[in-house]
Amino acid sequence: MSDGRIGLRRFDEGDVECIRLASSDPDIPKATTVPATFTPAEGLAFIHRQWSRAENGEGVSQVIVEVDSDRAIGLIWVALRPQRHVGGLGYWVVPPERGQGVATAAARLAIPWALVALDLRRLEAWVEPENLASQRVLRSAGLQREGRLRNFLTIEDRSSDALVFAVIAPER
Ligand SMILES: CC(C)(COP(=O)(O)OP(=O)(O)OC[C@H]1O[C@@H](n2cnc3c(N)ncnc32)[C@H](O)[C@@H]1OP(=O)(O)O)[C@@H](O)C(=O)NCCC(=O)NCCS
Repeated sequence: MSDGRIGLRRFDEGDVECIRLASSDPDIPKATTVPATFTPAEGLAFIHRQWSRAENGEGVSQVIVEVDSDRAIGLIWVALRPQRHVGGLGYWVVPPERGQGVATAAARLAIPWALVALDLRRLEAWVEPENLASQRVLRSAGLQREGRLRNFLTIEDRSSDALVFAVIAPER
């Protein structure tokens, strides 16, 4: 999948530098399984976990790439929620590549694909109220804010409210 500038594809082991850059971010390791202390072995284990998500029926995790170079610059993931036909969207972009529309482009590619390929009727995202950049991404990708879940997220030992954003599949 590609819009000509940004693409999504399956992870491969050559993408380990992207995991190293994600590990260097203060926030990504707190909310994901990206290792807080990077080693090549931990980076490869992270990539292998992304493969196993589809095999285990947890969802689909893809790497975000710059199309011209095929360089990995982020991750976008659609989790299958326990509720039938409901998915959850998550993503991150490595720090040097932020502020250039990468997450927005990736979400615009992933959402229509996921609604059809994963037979979703609802795709939602949970975001911390302070994460204004992520809320901009979700709105730009067509999700609407639905409400606020108090103390819904636990990040390390800290509780946080979550804002819920969602998009509904068109009638088929
Ligand atoms: C959130 C994140 C994915 C955004 O990635 P990105 O590629 O920089 O996002 P984009 O460039 O597509 O869009 C960012 C939008 O947020 C806006 N933005 C950026 N920083 C902002 C801030 N501090 N306050 C308000 N808006 C901000 C940008 O102006 C842009 O909005 P626009 O399209 O209306 O101009 C990235 O910062 C990240 O990986 N953060 C850590 C992980 C994370 O928070 N993931 C999401 C969990 S819900």
